[in-house]
Amino acid sequence: MDTLDFVKVTEAAALAASRWMGRGEREKADAAAVEKMRETLNAMDIRGRVVIGEGERDEAPMLYIGEEVGRGGIEVDLAVDPVEGTNLVANGLPNSIAVLAVAAKGGLLNAPDTYMDKLAVGPKAAEYVHIDATVAENLELVANALERPIGDITVVILDRPRHKKLIEDVRATGAKIKLISDGDVDAAIATAIDGTGIHVAMGTGGAPEGVLAAAALRCLGGNFMGRLKPRNEDEIKRAMAMGFEDVNKVLLMEDLVKSDDITFVATGITDGDLVRGVRFFGNGARTHSIIMNSRSATVRFVETVHRLRAEPFRVRQH
Ligand code: FBP
Repeated sequence: MDTLDFVKVTEAAALAASRWMGRGEREKADAAAVEKMRETLNAMDIRGRVVIGEGERDEAPMLYIGEEVGRGGIEVDLAVDPVEGTNLVANGLPNSIAVLAVAAKGGLLNAPDTYMDKLAVGPKAAEYVHIDATVAENLELVANALERPIGDITVVILDRPRHKKLIEDVRATGAKIKLISDGDVDAAIATAIDGTGIHVAMGTGGAPEGVLAAAALRCLGGNFMGRLKPRNEDEIKRAMAMGFEDVNKVLLMEDLVKSDDITFVATGITDGDLVRGVRFFGNGARTHSIIMNSRSATVRFVETVHRLRAEPFRVRQH
């Protein structure tokens, strides 16, 4: 199995979800992507186990945590999010992606579908920050690491009432803020890509998305730290059943991503900071993906032209 093959999985999911762009149907966009992602994974020569998925078995019909996929072969653990940013697709907004991370068995944290406090930075600031430091301390360290005034640092935060204090604390430092409506995986990755203008991602979002972001930042040499934030007793119990002895433990990169051979793949559904969205042109479509591997230390951007109907088509350069 070539890990590059996994791009077919996110491409299939993105193509399916993009049909629902702007149609106000987040569930349908998600269902279409889940179906295609599952179908494509099941055609691969792997014995895959979903460790981060679309919820738990009783909640989601497909790609649930623990589901086995593939037609046999090398054993791998998979973290999947067929549509990261379902609202973004439903509303035709930027930065929705189809995402997947792959590692050898046991290589990814088996995280419950709860919330997580997160801190993500790119390679230059990776060794300086800590989730337990104050916002002001972390931003000063990032500014020093990036050799610029704190006012030139941009922090991405999900626009949620729960982040009122965090937003105030960031503003008090003089740093800039980019509030996003959804999609904190894309935001975390952007901290490690020069030219995005994003330096830090902070705040509370989905725990599964946290593991996916950590996998990407592991490939890019950035840093991601998290701490589970269960919303109720039931979520605490679920976390404990998954092996968390202390749900308040700080999760370092090595806790979230245990393997040093991680592949992370994302395909754009709508246009974004990282990759472009799906473009249809009559009898075909063009997708744009990023494929990274931690061991080979490679980051590939792949543009694929897909023939969607029987008749031949002419391929344009861009
Ligand atoms: P979905 O694609 O599953 O809807 O997740 C989008 C997202 O914005 C994530 O990027 C983020 O981690 C999470 O939702 C935040 O959750 P909430 O919307 O409950 O604040």
